[in-house]
Amino acid sequence: MPTVAVTGATRVVGIFGEPVAHSHSPTIHNAAFAALGLDYVYVAFHVRPVALAGAVAAVRALDLRGVNVTVPHKERVIPLLDSLSRVARTAGAVNTIVNRAGHLHGDNTDIVGFLASLGRHRRRVRGGRAVVIGAGGAARAVVTALQLAAVREIRVVNRTLRRAAAIAQRFGGPRTRLAALPLAALREAATLADADCVVNTTSLGWRGERFLPLAYAATPRHCLFYDLVYGRSTAFLRGARAARRPVMDGTEMLVRQGAAAFTLWTGRRPPLDVLRAALGVGAAELTTGSPAGSLQSPAKRGAIV
Ligand SMILES: NC(=O)c1ccc[n+]([C@@H]2O[C@H](COP(=O)([O-])OP(=O)(O)OC[C@H]3O[C@@H](n4cnc5c(N)ncnc54)[C@H](OP(=O)(O)O)[C@@H]3O)[C@@H](O)[C@H]2O)c1
Repeated sequence: MPTVAVTGATRVVGIFGEPVAHSHSPTIHNAAFAALGLDYVYVAFHVRPVALAGAVAAVRALDLRGVNVTVPHKERVIPLLDSLSRVARTAGAVNTIVNRAGHLHGDNTDIVGFLASLGRHRRRVRGGRAVVIGAGGAARAVVTALQLAAVREIRVVNRTLRRAAAIAQRFGGPRTRLAALPLAALREAATLADADCVVNTTSLGWRGERFLPLAYAATPRHCLFYDLVYGRSTAFLRGARAARRPVMDGTEMLVRQGAAAFTLWTGRRPPLDVLRAALGVGAAELTTGSPAGSLQSPAKRGAIV
């Protein structure tokens, strides 16, 4: 992989999160900077919740060009910013900050990233029903994206019911019905029998954990199981594959949200294949495919930007 030579003029971008060491964002962004010959470097910063305000102030003080914001800061960072994009305000979550001469603007590229990654599945979910597991920052982005994709009904299932209820209240309306349910609802056919997609937005799976009990067989055969966790085989997707349902992991979303953030900071579009190649994503490695588990290269997936 080409490397970035850091000079006195190099612009710095990065990511604030806890944990953050597992993040693949430095890999994809630095590969794209090198490919386009841009004098930028992307660094991961381990930022604890108590240090978030200081870290955001440092974006101004150190004149960073911008940062991504990940677990657990996506919602808490909002009051620390000067302005928000429309989608970030709608979602109530920020994953990208752009430093405009000291004015910190919050955006959310997870939304366009999720939408773009859906590819041909986007048409299938239109007018349909979705089950979203989790109620954190990523869930807010996914619910916003599903609303933009004209999904008609969304069931938000979460360990802390209060957080799911807050999402249902914020996003529910005449165009999209929302309901909040406890985790136990995932065992019930009534939750899943008419679902067109089930999206895991929790971090369960990062460390190889078992997934929650879920009635896979109750879903229609076309139901897409989408895991935001990327780059590993998760128990959530293994269960769906065993039930011969279509599956998709978070790799293409990572690429698409990263590409959108890259453009916000640099004004340039990164070559998507460079981002994918930096992740080591080859045709045989993708975890998106048909119920039979046949695999497709990202270029063949017809993803929409
Ligand atoms: N592929 C991509 O591009 C992409 C983009 C964005 C995010 N992500 C991934 O999405 C995940 C969530 O991110 P986030 O920002 O939404 O995090 P977050 O705000 O911290 O929310 C985490 C969610 O996971 C739930 N959860 C955590 N541990 C659990 C457990 N043991 N059992 C049941 N539920 C549990 C939490 O439930 P409670 O509310 O009960 O705590 C909450 O709903 C992360 O893994 C992140 O890396 C991927």
